Amino acid sequence: MKIGFIGIGAISEHVITGLIQTGGFDEIVVVSERSSHRSARLADRFTNVEVEPDNQTIVDRVDVVFVATLPEQTLELLDTLSFRQDQVIVSMAAIVSVEQIAEKVHPASRIHRLIPMPPNELGVGPIPIYPSCPDLAALLSQIGTVIPVEDQQQFSTFSASSALMATLFELVATNARWLESKGVAAEIASQYSTALFHSLATQSKELRAEELRTLSTDCLTAGGLNEQVLNATRDAGWYKELEAELDKILDRISS
Ligand SMILES: NC(=O)c1ccc[n+]([C@@H]2O[C@H](COP(=O)([O-])OP(=O)(O)OC[C@H]3O[C@@H](n4cnc5c(N)ncnc54)[C@H](OP(=O)(O)O)[C@@H]3O)[C@@H](O)[C@H]2O)c1
Repeated sequence: MKIGFIGIGAISEHVITGLIQTGGFDEIVVVSERSSHRSARLADRFTNVEVEPDNQTIVDRVDVVFVATLPEQTLELLDTLSFRQDQVIVSMAAIVSVEQIAEKVHPASRIHRLIPMPPNELGVGPIPIYPSCPDLAALLSQIGTVIPVEDQQQFSTFSASSALMATLFELVATNARWLESKGVAAEIASQYSTALFHSLATQSKELRAEELRTLSTDCLTAGGLNEQVLNATRDAGWYKELEAELDKILDRISS
């Protein structure tokens, strides 16, 4: 399978690095030149990455075209390109629908949307794909857990849910900063905080929401330390606010 990427920003760099370094993908990966510091870095690191300044040449050379430009750039970019019927187009752009892309890439009709994440570089993390596709799932399962989605509205809910990443990082960072403020060396504070959250995420892997709630009450000693923080944050409305914000994100994506 010959693959190419147009739009070499943050997320493409994570996905390409994951595919090659973690997934062992060893066929040619043709990448667009912009942003040149990233495309040059990928070509420096991996012998099978080729930088191509002309987007149409990328399309002409590959079977699967990954498009990872910003949502507002994507349709404009597709307007400038011609596709073959046998090609697969995979868009990572949030908000842009399969129908909007289909209008631009005719006669190609195999169009998919993905929500990759930075940790896919390390071979972990969910990758919702709409509509599902066994060939792409086989490729992408090298860098994460492929979640097939059969309904575009539901795809949007996964998109909204992925907006929690920065909040989690802030939680880990707040914990580390607080340790530092109490005199713990910065390196140890970050070691402790990241190991704590990593272990909890590992322990909770694939548990259902109800099972997670049990886990949360299991680690509570009645009247103990965890209970105090959970009750305080619940009373302050943290979790209701989080759900309300996810609703707002979903509205933003859907409109
Ligand atoms: N970052 C994430 O974690 C993440 C996760 C899932 C999905 N996404 C989606 O992925 C897309 C890219 O996100 P990002 O964070 O990687 O953004 P980004 O870092 O801004 O990357 C966008 C890239 O597209 C390039 N570009 C724009 N127009 C182009 C054109 N006509 N030809 C070739 N390259 C062009 C830009 O080059 P210049 O720098 O030269 O303008 C830039 O390198 C977005 O639609 C976003 O919604 C991102």
